[in-house]
Amino acid sequence: MSIDVYLNGEFLPVEEARVSVTDRGFLFGDGVYEVIPVYGGHLFQLQHHLQRLHNSLRGIGMANPHTDDEWEQILTRLTSQLGDSDQALYLQVTRGCTDVRDHAWPEAIEPTIYARTKTLKPPTIDEKRRGIHAITLDDPRWQHCNIKAITLLANVMARHEAADAGAQEAILIRDGLATEGAASNLFIVKDKLLITPPKSDSLLPGITREIALELAKQHGIPIAEASISAVDLRTADEIWMSSSTKEIVPVLQLNGEAVGNGVAGKVWEEMTVLYEDCKDRLRNGEQL
Ligand code: PDD
Repeated sequence: MSIDVYLNGEFLPVEEARVSVTDRGFLFGDGVYEVIPVYGGHLFQLQHHLQRLHNSLRGIGMANPHTDDEWEQILTRLTSQLGDSDQALYLQVTRGCTDVRDHAWPEAIEPTIYARTKTLKPPTIDEKRRGIHAITLDDPRWQHCNIKAITLLANVMARHEAADAGAQEAILIRDGLATEGAASNLFIVKDKLLITPPKSDSLLPGITREIALELAKQHGIPIAEASISAVDLRTADEIWMSSSTKEIVPVLQLNGEAVGNGVAGKVWEEMTVLYEDCKDRLRNGEQL
């Protein structure tokens, strides 16, 4: 049994990890999380993920239980258990356990801190090039989608509806604008311009989104952080979805219609080379 879990100060195999049924994460979905990719044993964009974790905790009125250095020590020790493999690291902090089930939380409460790492085989470029199908759905979520909350029922339902329609992702529409996917951020390419909705409380500030924007800037791909209407989406030359585990994938069909000419687009090809290069540099131990 490999040691793949950190739970409240202990490193242990997942089979031995136990959380109380009085945990508010279990009872209320009262907590936040992160998913951090690990390439060749190195945590990808750790500082960005820790900053977002900090913002999410603050957003739900929780103190950060660790400094960045402490987080780094815990997470590096955990991922080193699986050597220099590629991994997906899941990290969750819930408000903790309370004997009385009350929506309001008491002041003195110890958070539950949980992380699990798993080897991950990132999709190959060819797999990504095959693309995905997406559908659009009205976004039924709350006003704080910038918080990476573990309360994911609306996202779960949206992804399920997409799967029922033979698609892999749902693109969510709020007030007539496409914001993000059920578990990913959204990009379109229109007349060679790469467009993604600006950060707001309607979407998660994705780390992959941030890196894609950064790479585009560095390599002269024109970008705009601007609203995407349902019409923009329908008439886009390319649509991409981005996330830490799926990376950047082209959407080849939207609501059953071909996107652009129905194959992965030129700008996606260019971005994918840049993104793969980033991962390889990290695998080789380069500081990014
Ligand atoms: N989800 N938007 C939503 C709603 C998400 O759940 C995610 C990621 C993203 C992309 O964020 P990032 O690039 O930082 O992974 C955007 C993770 C992977 C998950 O829930 O498993």
